[in-house]
Amino acid sequence: MIQRAMLAAVASAALLVASLLHVVSGEAERLQRDAASRAGAVIERGATLYGLHCRTCHGSRGEGVGQLGPALGDGQFFTKRLQEVGWQSTLREYVVSTTTHGRLMGTRPIYAGNGATAVMPPWYEEQGGMLRSDEIAAIADFVLNWQATATGQLELKRLALPEQNPQDPRTIARGEQVFKKHCLRCHEAAKGGASALAGPPLANIATLANGRREGMTAQDYIRESILIPAAYRREGYAAPDKGQDCGAVLTESELAAVIAFLSR
Ligand code: HEC
Ligand code: HEC
Repeated sequence: MIQRAMLAAVASAALLVASLLHVVSGEAERLQRDAASRAGAVIERGATLYGLHCRTCHGSRGEGVGQLGPALGDGQFFTKRLQEVGWQSTLREYVVSTTTHGRLMGTRPIYAGNGATAVMPPWYEEQGGMLRSDEIAAIADFVLNWQATATGQLELKRLALPEQNPQDPRTIARGEQVFKKHCLRCHEAAKGGASALAGPPLANIATLANGRREGMTAQDYIRESILIPAAYRREGYAAPDKGQDCGAVLTESELAAVIAFLSR
């Protein structure tokens, strides 16, 4: 009888321990899940901020944009860049620090700049920028998240983009659609209809833009204007700040098509 009672006691004790263990491990899992989803939320915030402030020069996938800004999402950046610039600390620190302070002179010839205006402005609010330190940290997390794809640990299939010939009437027609949808509301009649809201007419932009900026083709000029309207200010037009830009929310192929349309 006593034995039985003892057995029962041992058994229930074991059950108690087991269920406690279960609770503890469940708790650990939950904490882990929470941490992962918090990290995910920070990266998402970083992605949004990156889209607003960095994409125009560094590309939406960190692929870099012509002479505006270098790639941040390629293998070189993750494996060689720190040695190249002799940075002693981590890559994350490098991203945070460069973003915080900006860069007066580029370190590569194509971004050299003239030393008068920064090739990349400082972003930290205490340096005259518009981001808080937690926002810069979120952007850094987002940028570092490209490492897996950049260094080939993770491979993304590339979508084959149809080749677009800028002279092809279909490309031009597509560009016209893009123009009507995204540009017309601010850019007058020019090649479309409607009235001027904020931007200059673009009817002869290809001719006007040719040689407006030294060493730039009309197509490069148009491309830059769409991505950073403030790059070249036109007298008498709205300053293209908050929400007044040319809307760089185009895909690479829409951008090419609208440039073809404006250059035809
Ligand atoms: C007006 C264009 C422009 C914008 C906008 C811009 N950058 Fe840059 N960025 C540059 C240029 C130019 C360089 C310097 C390249 C060099 O030194 O060779 C640079 C350098 C960097 C570097 C160092 C890259 C390297 O290879 O050494 C980082 C990191 C960086 N930018 C992050 C950002 C982040 C984050 C944002 C948004 C908050 C941002 N940039 C917005 C133009 C820009
Ligand atoms: C929210 C209004 C707005 C939208 C939408 C817009 N733009 Fe603009 N755009 C402007 C303003 C304002 C300027 C003048 C900026 C300046 O003075 O530098 C400008 C300038 C330009 C210029 C340079 C013109 C010149 O003579 O230097 C080009 C090219 C251009 N935009 C193309 C486009 C294209 C293509 C689209 C559609 C993808 C577009 N814009 C959408 C407001 C807009």
